[in-house]
Amino acid sequence: MDKFIIEGGKRLVGRVKVSGAKNGSLALMPASLLAPGQYNISNTPNLRDVWTMSRLLTSMGAFCELNGNDLFIDSSNITSYEAPYEHVKKMRASFYVLGPLVARYGMAKVSLPGGCAWGPRPVDLHLKGLEKLGATVEMESGYILAKADKLHGAKFHFDISSVGATGNVLMAATLAKGTTLLTNAALEPEITALARMLVKMGAKINGIGTSILEIEGVDELHPTDEETIPDRIEAATFLIAGAITKGNIEVQNVNPYHLTTVLEKLEESGCKLDVNADTIQLEMDSDPLPIDITTSIYPGFPTDVQAQWLSYMLKADGLTKIKETIYADRFKHVPELLRLGANVELSDATALVRGGKHLNGAIVMSSDLRASASLLIAALVSEGTSEVLRVYHIDRGYETIETKLKALGASIKRVKTDLI
Ligand code: EPZ
Repeated sequence: MDKFIIEGGKRLVGRVKVSGAKNGSLALMPASLLAPGQYNISNTPNLRDVWTMSRLLTSMGAFCELNGNDLFIDSSNITSYEAPYEHVKKMRASFYVLGPLVARYGMAKVSLPGGCAWGPRPVDLHLKGLEKLGATVEMESGYILAKADKLHGAKFHFDISSVGATGNVLMAATLAKGTTLLTNAALEPEITALARMLVKMGAKINGIGTSILEIEGVDELHPTDEETIPDRIEAATFLIAGAITKGNIEVQNVNPYHLTTVLEKLEESGCKLDVNADTIQLEMDSDPLPIDITTSIYPGFPTDVQAQWLSYMLKADGLTKIKETIYADRFKHVPELLRLGANVELSDATALVRGGKHLNGAIVMSSDLRASASLLIAALVSEGTSEVLRVYHIDRGYETIETKLKALGASIKRVKTDLI
């Protein structure tokens, strides 16, 4: 296991290039199951979750090769329609292969997901959507067995806006016979990017970028090349790290339109922002003002930035309310932040942060991807040395984060450790 050792107190100054979106790649890669052939997906982040998805597709018979940030997939010879537990337990997004497999091959055996540590992560919307398209879905010893001679078009309303369920059902609908109407579909940029790739593959989709998607099924699709969109969550993470250290950073290769709410909140907290087509310059010369946030679906404040914002508010002199509406128990980072001297109370999916306290370095434990990012951010402004353990969590969703932070002036190093 690796750990990070961080010396707090350094201002972040300089430029950082954001990688391709992890959640973008994890939506595009399963689409290669819809049409046999060769795909070149550029700007793919070279990180653990992409390696997991590549291993899963390879176990089905695909050929996957990631050279730097260029991903090559050949899905010409899919021989297995199963997503075994060993892959799915590591990453919930493995579940995204269900829709494409049923649509293209008429069958799929996919383990129920594991993924992040917090809370139950239901998949009922994925299954209801596929059943509406004519699949029969059964559960057998922890696996979902889905079958369909030929999916047919249908109307389906997502009771909850779900990124994964929208992706799964959308991909399935592209090969269903007839027209499908999806309402309350997820608006996240990663889903819009998936829809655009499907259209390049020959799919007929109207309403892209809205919550109402109309899909005219086609008999077959063809492979395409694609570029992964920039990672809006990584961009937000670095902006917050720059802000909390009273730094001056430029985030490059970013789409500012994908993080408008976060930018608004950063400005409200006192940051000076200069936003251009694909760069965001942030300058901060004081502690932040206490700014409440409530997470919500896109384009609201992303749940994937909640933990990072909570760490940021530890330096705000006053009381901040942070409400989580997507995953009520996504606060595993809080007990670890208390070890650094934070004052945070939790109740009813809300964190009450009494900021302005002096933070002292300590040994803290990562529990999930974004919690790890929040611990890193807090360690950057904790006096003395902090150690963040189990950094494999952060390696799931950030490409060489310590290299990028070091280049901005942070004192951080990765060390092998026998500690769990
Ligand atoms: C995606 O997860 C992201 N993962 C998550 O990012 C992100 O937190 C989440 O969307 C919300 O934005 C990927 O894109 C790989 P959902 P997903 O289905 O698709 C409920 C990260 O840190 N729900 O949009 O699994 C669910 O319980 C990760 O990068 C159902 O009730 O999330 C949650 O409350 C963590 N039934 C809400 O919907 C279902 O069938 C949103 O979940 C599906 C979801």
